[in-house]
Amino acid sequence: MPNRAVIQSIGMAVADRVMTNDEFEAIIDTTDEWIQTRTGIKERRIAEPGQSSSYFGIRAAKEALERAGKSPEEVEMVVCATVTGDYLFPGTACLIQDAIGAKNAGAYDLGAACAGFIYAAEAAAGMICNGTVQNAVVVGIDTLTHFVDWKDRSTCVLFGDGGGAVFMERQKDTERGIVATVMLADGSGARHIKIALGGSLNPPHSARGEAACGYIYMAGKEVFRFAVRAMADSCSRVLEKAGLTSDDVALFCPHQANLRIITAAADHLGLSMDRVFVNVHKYGNMGAGSIPVALYEAEQQGKLKRGDLVMTVGFGAGLVWGANLIRW
Ligand code: UT7
Repeated sequence: MPNRAVIQSIGMAVADRVMTNDEFEAIIDTTDEWIQTRTGIKERRIAEPGQSSSYFGIRAAKEALERAGKSPEEVEMVVCATVTGDYLFPGTACLIQDAIGAKNAGAYDLGAACAGFIYAAEAAAGMICNGTVQNAVVVGIDTLTHFVDWKDRSTCVLFGDGGGAVFMERQKDTERGIVATVMLADGSGARHIKIALGGSLNPPHSARGEAACGYIYMAGKEVFRFAVRAMADSCSRVLEKAGLTSDDVALFCPHQANLRIITAAADHLGLSMDRVFVNVHKYGNMGAGSIPVALYEAEQQGKLKRGDLVMTVGFGAGLVWGANLIRW
């Protein structure tokens, strides 16, 4: 039997501060009713100034290691999926690696927006299965509210801060682990979700930077249509790749951006909602953090047990999308 990259444990960390829909009624022209019907979100977590992505990533990674019973010195790689790293450079993975004491590990960031955890889990699994490393800590974390325009009602209600981390390691003679992955992209849709300021095209302290916007821009309707297609597309492909059907899936754990997108995808796949994990009402969209937090809570609530087949799917800025089938 070939090597498998098995998720042995999971940790999570979200911001403490809860912001309800009612609070938005005081600052923008919106209602709790609009937000709930259009998105499914009731509240989200908001990071304080100075609580960066590494702040949450460190906490999640420490919990994952503790729950796996591993010492930090044993970790060989830290991969951090984020688009809201503490800095342009150094990488947030390096900050996490240092803070958790993973002295013998490599560390790098991977930016695939809300599909980041899918891409990062596969990147780590590849290194683990081909023998480059024995194990990895894979973090999915974002603090998107640091980049929202609190006056833009079409975006500011959608996001929240936090994420999770898993400890993954090589195992033989097991059915557990990453079973199959698909990863796709369409850069022609890059303009639909972005932060224009801060990269090498529009650097800060430059004429171009001065003209660029530092807030999250999102063409909601275009992204909505793309998201529904992308979810269905990547789930069908990953099931076909593994020679399985949606009947084999114990739990569907999608990126939590909008309840309407999740139910449309579940419908398409013929999955009843009792096999779909939803926590968007509590957290909003946490970027690369949504999927690991959903996996964590599904496990805590007894909806995801060892040996179950779980299908994760994510989509976001790039545009990128993808899905993992994981035997938990
Ligand atoms: O993880 C990254 C991927 N991102 C996503 O998955 C987000 C995908 N998009 C969406 O989830 C939805 O498109 C939104 C939730 C962002 C918007 O929902 P929608 O049903 O597509 O609304 P809309 O953009 O078509 O806007 C309908 C109306 C507009 O008013 P008019 O032009 O019809 O008068 C908006 O101005 O709703 C208005 N609107 C709001 N009203 C009250 C937009 N935001 C709000 C708001 N409160 N917060």
